[in-house]
Amino acid sequence: MCIKDKAWWKESVVYQIYPRSFKDSNGDGVGDLNGITEKLDYLKELGIDVIWLSPVYQSPNDDNGYDISDYQAIMKEFGTMEDFDRMLAAAHDRGIKILMDLVVNHTSDEHPWFVESRKSTDNPYRDYYIWRPARDGKEPNNWGSCFSGPAWQWDEQTQMYFLHLFSKKQPDLNWDNPRVRREVFDMMNWWLKKGVDGFRMDVISLISKEPDLPDGPAELNGYASFNMPANGPHVHEYLQEMRREVLNNADTLTVGECSGVTLEEAKKYANAEGTELNMVFQFEHMDVDAEAGNKWTDKKMRLSEMKEVLTRWQKGLEGIAWNSLFWENHDQPRSVSRYGNDGEYREASAKMLATCLHLMQGTPYIYQGQELGMTNVPFSSIDDFRDLDSVNAYHELVGQGVFTEEQMLKYLRRKSRDNARTPFQWNSGSQAGFTAGTPWIMVNPNYKEINAEEQMNRPDSVFHYYQKLIRLRKEREIVVYGSYDLLLPESEEIYAYTRTLGDEKLLTVCNFTDHEVRYEVPEEFRGGDCLISNYDAPELNESVTLRPYEAFAAEKKE
Ligand code: GLC
Ligand code: CA
Repeated sequence: MCIKDKAWWKESVVYQIYPRSFKDSNGDGVGDLNGITEKLDYLKELGIDVIWLSPVYQSPNDDNGYDISDYQAIMKEFGTMEDFDRMLAAAHDRGIKILMDLVVNHTSDEHPWFVESRKSTDNPYRDYYIWRPARDGKEPNNWGSCFSGPAWQWDEQTQMYFLHLFSKKQPDLNWDNPRVRREVFDMMNWWLKKGVDGFRMDVISLISKEPDLPDGPAELNGYASFNMPANGPHVHEYLQEMRREVLNNADTLTVGECSGVTLEEAKKYANAEGTELNMVFQFEHMDVDAEAGNKWTDKKMRLSEMKEVLTRWQKGLEGIAWNSLFWENHDQPRSVSRYGNDGEYREASAKMLATCLHLMQGTPYIYQGQELGMTNVPFSSIDDFRDLDSVNAYHELVGQGVFTEEQMLKYLRRKSRDNARTPFQWNSGSQAGFTAGTPWIMVNPNYKEINAEEQMNRPDSVFHYYQKLIRLRKEREIVVYGSYDLLLPESEEIYAYTRTLGDEKLLTVCNFTDHEVRYEVPEEFRGGDCLISNYDAPELNESVTLRPYEAFAAEKKE
């Protein structure tokens, strides 16, 4: 059978490393590049194809490396450029590709461009950033920062405000300035020349702002959502320029983090003609348990809504663009705690969530530790948190009396980004084998039960289940290229869908509850073969009684 538009990046599984928390090689409590190199064999064994490396560039670490002060230098805590080159070569030796995190919506305020820019209004770097005078003695518009408060910071030196959609140490670059684009493209070409295999592009949907920076509808605390400027007037033009100036020079994987992206916009960003990016991260499914974009809430995910969102993306992009598939990243809590069960059914539900995601159409992303079913963290006080988003939100919302300290701590334990940022649990030894020193953030106390060493030695572990799912993708084209159709849209218990490729058909069934649920097997799958299952493979008669968090995939019988 001939499949249109095959591509290696559609057939790959990507693994995200948050270097600060992956493996510390020198005992200073911070993960580093040599630590990653040490653990490449582990990733090889898991079977992934590509690593997305969260930022490793020089940075004052206001936002853990997402505030970059030199794009062509390595953060001292993480090692040297020689360490990077060694890691890259060692990954390539194992057939593993490396994606860099490209953070170019903003720089650090300590980047030499910004240091120059803030000196005077006629500095040659002034227009590298977005400066505006006060409006009626206040901020130039009502945009809010993603990390609480207004998106504008007053600068005494030149008596103007600069825009920062993230922290005030992350001033937004002015992409309308062709010199900024040239600098970014040259820097990207420099990394490609070094041999990196592509880029994950941080909040790339935000780079083009409306020229007159209009007020947005006021949302949280009187500020417009930081997503306001998403999909601005020139974003596609700038990405097409990047395609011509940079990306066409190499065979890359590109994925754009597109907060605020709609399906219609995604069709442009990730268009099959390949004029922009290969795929986008959309976030609609991450909002199913938020309230109007506000994540600090008790709201639970409704399965029917989750299915509606994911199915709209599956069907909407089919044949037109390409999906990326994820439950977790460094900005999200742990999926097993969020959508599964991190108690009695932790392993079953971690495997169920993996099955559900990996058998959809798109490129799956695994966030470090997800392959072990790592869980949210029992943080006990605000002092346990390191993430500026969490700490700022706590002080702002508690300070304004929106929530009590206890309420806000409860929300942070549910949703804080630090849930994903505690050290990777390698073994049951001191500090989970992450460091010989004191880690920069606490280790989850459950490392004695949940760790890589234990799981690698146990055939029915979450780790081995991920390995199987990854292998299945390599063995069956239908997993990559089959078209997707949802079954039982209304069920609040079962997520079931089929994939179809020519005469082949695959059925995936997932029980999202902690109790037994009866499932009526579609006729064409009765007597079919189970390809994977997180319990003993069920017999596919007229109906199956699904056990708590049971998941299986089966082929239509010939
Ligand atoms: C992206 C990153 C997040 C970071 C923000 C600002 O959303 O994933 O970690 O804080 O951009 O760079
Ligand atoms: Ca270290």
